[in-house]
Amino acid sequence: MVNELKNIEKISIENFQDDLISWFKAEQRELPWRKDQDPYKVWVSEIMLQQTRVDTVIPYFNRFIEWFPTIKDLADANDEKVLKAWEGLGYYSRVRNLHSAVKEVNEKYGGQVPDTPKEISNLKGVGPYTAGAILSIAYGVPEPAVDGNVMRVLSRILSIWEDIAKPSTRKVFEKAVRQLISHDDPSAFNQALMELGALICTPTSPSCLLCPVREHCQGFHEGVESELPIKTKKNAQKNVELAAIIVKDENGRLLIHKRPETGLLANLWEFPNVEINQHFLMGKSQITDLFKESFDMNIMLEKSIGQIEHVFSHLIWNIRVYTGSISSDFPEDNEWKFITLTQMEDYAFPVSFQKMLKLYKDTI
Ligand code: ADE
Repeated sequence: MVNELKNIEKISIENFQDDLISWFKAEQRELPWRKDQDPYKVWVSEIMLQQTRVDTVIPYFNRFIEWFPTIKDLADANDEKVLKAWEGLGYYSRVRNLHSAVKEVNEKYGGQVPDTPKEISNLKGVGPYTAGAILSIAYGVPEPAVDGNVMRVLSRILSIWEDIAKPSTRKVFEKAVRQLISHDDPSAFNQALMELGALICTPTSPSCLLCPVREHCQGFHEGVESELPIKTKKNAQKNVELAAIIVKDENGRLLIHKRPETGLLANLWEFPNVEINQHFLMGKSQITDLFKESFDMNIMLEKSIGQIEHVFSHLIWNIRVYTGSISSDFPEDNEWKFITLTQMEDYAFPVSFQKMLKLYKDTI
């Protein structure tokens, strides 16, 4: 078997740690979750930062901590408000898992985030990366916190040619971090790797001339830094065609529908919509029939006001948007509401909904 970590012997580990950590201490960005070591705040920030850029996360993080300053506040909060705090961030199962894990910490650990790998990894939504990030940053435990950015950085430093798109590859990098991590300051070490990935060792055209650990970098010495990491392409996203209807009642309120408790965008609110078959030309009457079949609704489609596209990691929604009306005796219940624009503050909507609302406002 090839030894993926053969280059680790070429590195003077203590010098590497010193160069990396001194650079981090001098150059790190001021970020709201770095103001203290509160494990709850570290946890929230790390969950938000999965699949989401730092610039996007900052205002969400600040508002989230304002609304739910402690574990207890979040544990006691109602689901709708917590979902609202996440509105627009995407990957909503992150916040559902965070909320249920925080309730568990509140009940089982008296509101103290556990500080052992075993206990922390048992919490919902806390995978190896998040566990390592919280343990090292908040508690100073020398555990690896390996995400895609850290794999990119270390694949270059150690010239590792494993495919980072393969889930099993993360273990190779965790093994590397266990050998490299500073036991004096695991928090600074892990954050420095993340910061290096964000500021210097970027996905395309890394700034090697500015890099504090260039001297230790095997990829740079071999002139292969731009070929690394190896990352095979994911499968293409599936296209799904939808038809959505914006219905206004006689009081000017808009009809919204709550999505099911499980699956994509679970529990978020939306304009009523149906999936249409992209291989047939679907006209208004077929779409009307689909609404009847899916929701037992008698709708009337009026005007087509445009089309929006929304891209998820695994699929793309193409949504035809219509205005329309509905029989006046349509009943409201837990799943169906007529609401005013002001009442939208009380419900959480996905980004695709916001796009449709804008289209609607632009046409009326
Ligand atoms: N990306 C993931 N975790 C981060 C952190 N703690 N600071 C900055 N960027 C990050």
